[in-house]
Amino acid sequence: MSQHSPAKRTTAPDIRARKGGAPIVSLTSYHAHTAAIADRHVDFLLVGDSLGMVMHGFESTLPVPLELMIMHGRAVMRGAKKALVVVDMPFGSYEESPSQAFRNAARVVKETECGAIKLEGGRRMAETIHFLTERGIPVMGHVGLTPQSINTIGSFKAQGRTREEWAAIEEDARVVAEAGAFAMVIEAVAEPLAAKITKQVAVPTIGIGASSVCDGQILVMEDMLGLSPRVPRFVKEFGKVGEAIERAIATYAEDVRSRQFPGADNTYALKE
Ligand code: KIV
Repeated sequence: MSQHSPAKRTTAPDIRARKGGAPIVSLTSYHAHTAAIADRHVDFLLVGDSLGMVMHGFESTLPVPLELMIMHGRAVMRGAKKALVVVDMPFGSYEESPSQAFRNAARVVKETECGAIKLEGGRRMAETIHFLTERGIPVMGHVGLTPQSINTIGSFKAQGRTREEWAAIEEDARVVAEAGAFAMVIEAVAEPLAAKITKQVAVPTIGIGASSVCDGQILVMEDMLGLSPRVPRFVKEFGKVGEAIERAIATYAEDVRSRQFPGADNTYALKE
C-alpha cells in the first residue's frame, strides 16, 4: 500500500465554513493543465458555462450542452487534486423542475466526480436548491447578473444600479442561502449592495465585478491572464498571455520559414 496519503480535496462544507474568514480564492477552469497550475493557489475551481464563449466562441452561454460541461468537468478533475471543483449547470438542464435538475446534476456529479454544482437564479430556484441539497448534491447559487437570462435582461449589464432594484436582489440572495446553498456567486452588483448581502447571508459570497467586500472572488481565468480579446472593465489583467502566445507563434512561423527548425533526435524522449 502506498505510504503517501493523497492531499485532501477541499469540500463544499469547507468553503461554507470560510464565511467571514480569510478571503476565498477561485477561478474558472476548463482545461486539465491550467487546472493543475491553478490548483496550487485557489480554494475552488469553477467549470463555468462561460466556457461556451471563452473556449468555443459562442456569443452567449445559452448553446452550451450538458455533455460539454461534463467533458470539461472531467478534464479539470484530472488536473486539480486539491481544490473543490464546481461544475455549472448549463441553460435548459435544470430550470424545468427539481427532478429535472436532480437527474442532470446527479449525472454531472457521477460522470465528473466534482464536489458541487452551480446554478443561476434567486427565488425561482429556491425549491430546486433545497431538493438537490437534501439529496446530497451541494449547490452554489448565482445571483445579480445571471448571464443565462441574457435574452430577458437584454445585455450583460450591472444589476441593482438604482436603490429601488436592491430589495429584489437581496431577497434572491437571502432565499438562496436559506434554501441550502453552501455559497453564492454575486455577479456585477455595486459595492454597497454586495456589502449588504455579504452581511445579511450566512454563507460565503463570491464576487465577480462586485468589489472586494465579498467573502471571496472569482474571475474567468482567460480574462485575468490577458488571453481574452475583450474583457469587462472591472477585470484586472494579471498577465499578458495573449501577447506571449502571439510572440511565440510569430517566432515559430519565422523559424519554419527560414528553415531554422530543430530536428527531433532519435530518442523522442521528453525534456527534463
Ligand atoms: O460561467 C462562469 O464562468 C461563471 C462565473 C463568471 C462566475 O458563472
